[in-house]
Amino acid sequence: MTTDLSDFIHGLPKAELHVHIEGTFEPALMFAIARRNGISLDYPSVQALQDAYRFNNLQEFLDIYYIGANVLIHEEDFYDLTMAYLRRCKEQTVVHTEIFFDPQTHTDRGIAFDTVIRGIQRALEDGKGKWGITSRLILCFLRHLSEEAAFQTLEQARPYREWICGVGLDSSELGHPPSKFERVFKQAEEEGYLLMAHAGEEGPSAYIREALDILGVVRIDHGNRCLDDEALIQELVERQIPLTLCPLSNLELKVVQNLSDHPVKRMLDQGLLATIHSDDPAYFGGYMHENYLRTAESVGLSRQDICQLAVNSFRASFLDDSNKEMWIDRVKTYCADSG
Ligand code: ADE
Ligand code: ZN
Repeated sequence: MTTDLSDFIHGLPKAELHVHIEGTFEPALMFAIARRNGISLDYPSVQALQDAYRFNNLQEFLDIYYIGANVLIHEEDFYDLTMAYLRRCKEQTVVHTEIFFDPQTHTDRGIAFDTVIRGIQRALEDGKGKWGITSRLILCFLRHLSEEAAFQTLEQARPYREWICGVGLDSSELGHPPSKFERVFKQAEEEGYLLMAHAGEEGPSAYIREALDILGVVRIDHGNRCLDDEALIQELVERQIPLTLCPLSNLELKVVQNLSDHPVKRMLDQGLLATIHSDDPAYFGGYMHENYLRTAESVGLSRQDICQLAVNSFRASFLDDSNKEMWIDRVKTYCADSG
């Protein structure tokens, strides 16, 4: 039976591999938490706040994103934030999610690492219990801060090692190459963390090369700019290094000028292990469903392409092999039954 494209994407099992928990902070929840914490936001209403969400580049977004995060104070706040995101996953058939969190955004304001991670972790456990959503938690170092600060963060994470599967690198990319974090990534690798980094979002393809060769990452977040370097593309294809793309983020941050220019289809056609995710859905106009649907419509993805993206999302995940295969089989069955 052929279904409507939106219904088809809705029911397709998907894995989210690139989402910042602080970027899921919806304005309505931000106002509610600000109120209960006795904090006043600089905007008079949810609408006024949303109207400020117009960005010309990554930095303009980050400036407002870090301000929003300031209202998160108590463990309960991090719990509510994470539960609200998991509810969206449930509604959109996102069955597995790998979530970034930015501890330094909070510890630098005097919020304990323990408060942040306990709130998030408790929600992840409840999301699994209530809805069966599986998850991983990934600690991101803020790259505009020093390597020394990243080392301190890694140290703070040590008591919670079993809750954190990997480390990543986010925030302002230009001027902060992966090589700045060579030693702390080495240390994280020795402690058994999986490694990944944002690279080639605004920064050049050379940053992707550094992330691979100097940091030793197993996954590249974004990676759009790899298309500037033929040898790099070849290596990414051969090694099947995942690129976790975020089309609506790319549109809102002017990484692409039109969604129809998005390279996801060209990447799939070249054999790259491309996947689609939401990045900061509360700021960029959509969660997984909207990212898949609007991209499919604008770029002209076939149902086969969409199925490939869902298969890729599980292949690129940190699930164990048997769960990967189980979900890939389910995606294939779903596509065969409803294509
Ligand atoms: N932090 C949150 N979203 C980000 C993005 N798209 N790039 C870099 N850092 C981020
Ligand atoms: Zn990101």
